[in-house]
Amino acid sequence: MNSQPNTATNLMAQLALVPAVEATVEATAKSTEGGILTAKSTEGGILTAIVKSTEGEILSNYFIETCRTVLPVLDKLGPSMAVIRSDIGGNIQRLEEICGSGKSEYKFLYEIVRKEAAEGTAKKPLSCTRAILWLTRAMDFSVVLLRDLMEQPEWSLKQAVEHAYNITLKQWHGWISAAAFKVGLKLIPEREKFIGLLGDMKGDTEKFISVLPPVLQENHKFLQSLRLDRLKSS
Ligand SMILES: *[C@@H]1O[C@H](CO)[C@@H](O)[C@H](O)[C@H]1NC(C)=O
Repeated sequence: MNSQPNTATNLMAQLALVPAVEATVEATAKSTEGGILTAKSTEGGILTAIVKSTEGEILSNYFIETCRTVLPVLDKLGPSMAVIRSDIGGNIQRLEEICGSGKSEYKFLYEIVRKEAAEGTAKKPLSCTRAILWLTRAMDFSVVLLRDLMEQPEWSLKQAVEHAYNITLKQWHGWISAAAFKVGLKLIPEREKFIGLLGDMKGDTEKFISVLPPVLQENHKFLQSLRLDRLKSS
């Protein structure tokens, strides 16, 4: 299990068929354990992950839960992804415990950022804005990696990870983070082993890489509009 029952219920309440009416979707089924999207609608239609409320805002819980579903996938890459994995885990935890993402006033992801921007704390090292920014970047990385693995069967796993890193996280990493990533690259298992471990998560992977990119784009645009999209790490 990678989420609490009531968190999963919240998530499922937020997954709906078009047109989205949050409250009417029953939380009934859960997909394969360790799957990328852990919730499924049972209405029989195509699962369209609606990450927005009827007001058109991205829901904090949905975003966090979606980020969380990547963790078991990264775990399968072993210690090589330890740095990125702990970064994602830490940012999720920060949003939940410190930023009050579970509270109703922060139901919408951007409320958290707007509040910090208004208070002038958004750029602080441990801000919730930074947590959202880095989660978005880590999801950019995850999407590119999984898409490459599906679309570039001749690439080694190391090549795919390096490519995803080069075009997503690298430009934002200072030398400490970049060096940590390089060490991880040396520990990457063989592609066959990883694909084998991923097993029957293919359907979930396809959903993940098609549903998430527009949300990530929107996050970037929003953060950019507040000039908060270009913060770097050490
Ligand atoms: C990633 O970038 C490095 C440094 O520019 C380069 O040497 C390497 O070939 C790139 N790797 C991939 C897979 O694109």
